[in-house]
Amino acid sequence: MVGELSSRKRDHIRICTERDVEFKKKTTWFEYVELIHNPLPEVDFNEIKLEASFLSRTFNYPLVIEGMTGGIPEAYKINKNLAEVALQLNIPLGVGSQRAGIRNESLKETYRIVRDISPSIFVIGNIGAVQLMEEGIELAEKAVEMIEANALAIHLNSLQELIQPGGTTTYRGIIKSIEKTVNRLSVPVIVKEVGCGISRESAKSLEKIGVKVIDVAGAGGTNWTLIEKIRAEEAGDLEKKMLGEVFLEWGIPTAASIIEVSSTVEIEVIGSGGIRTGLDAAKALALGADMVGIAKPLLKPALESVESILSYLRKIILELRTAMYLTGCRNISELKKVDKVLTGPLIEWCRQRNLPV
Ligand SMILES: Cc1cc2nc3c(=O)[nH]c(=O)nc-3n(C[C@H](O)[C@H](O)[C@H](O)COP(=O)(O)O)c2cc1C
Repeated sequence: MVGELSSRKRDHIRICTERDVEFKKKTTWFEYVELIHNPLPEVDFNEIKLEASFLSRTFNYPLVIEGMTGGIPEAYKINKNLAEVALQLNIPLGVGSQRAGIRNESLKETYRIVRDISPSIFVIGNIGAVQLMEEGIELAEKAVEMIEANALAIHLNSLQELIQPGGTTTYRGIIKSIEKTVNRLSVPVIVKEVGCGISRESAKSLEKIGVKVIDVAGAGGTNWTLIEKIRAEEAGDLEKKMLGEVFLEWGIPTAASIIEVSSTVEIEVIGSGGIRTGLDAAKALALGADMVGIAKPLLKPALESVESILSYLRKIILELRTAMYLTGCRNISELKKVDKVLTGPLIEWCRQRNLPV
């Protein structure tokens, strides 16, 4: 089992770096969000403040490095580089699913390195909801303890599990499991998807049981159905491959998911899934997200160097600052209230779902 976990994680990194694994037809729907140009911004570009508050801490930017990896030797370097960037930029950082490190002591350091870089980094642990159901709360406690996590993310990936050869096919009891974890842990629980988005109804259920943050991970960015379909194909599992093909474009587009969740719950929201520019980030924040998360675009730079990751994120920050300048926003609170126009399928979605627009 340990060997199978490692080879799956290695496959994920290989496929994500060598193949185009983004959604093909469905997009994030950020193209249906227009921020209104302000030709009289009364703002100094260099004085725009990008600080954001999240889980009672202030970060330099409203950006989160989303959880990706751990549990294989290559992950050590990836997580080390990402942690150095999180420290330098003062932004939160997630690790990938920690089950491999919990099962096998020798793999712990591939996650633990993020904490070893500095005790001050805001580190988000990660476990799968199905593993939590199968293995119980101890899994969550061990994940937090392993990296002295400041928060724990529980990921929901029902579609990925169905397409993944050998994946789990039940979510029965999921809410109770999350609730028990929330009640037991001393750190806040974040619930995230991995690319299919979160609906307003699910967000409400999660808020009710004490979850502190929802990370939408909507559709339009990294496509886990496609990644698992490729793995199924490679493993000669034709049934899973065909199932993956039919559900390739499944999921709530990120822009719609951010509106679904942020208009329904009081708890904090991370807008993620296909954030590829600082303009996407600005739109996510304007739609109601408190922070914006990025995963796959950071993978290749993280395999290279700290400087590569920094240069990618500096580009995102410059674009975000530019969007704020052009809309006359001096800080993130102003951006969150800025005027926007929703068009096309996004406005149609909001009308049919009775979401405030
Ligand atoms: C290589 C890779 C590995 C990932 N592993 C995990 C994981 O272990 N746990 C998790 O919650 N999400 C995982 N994700 C999902 C991301 O956290 C994120 O939700 C998703 O990729 C959408 O963001 P993106 O479009 O910016 O990549 C992974 C993503 C990538 C690219």
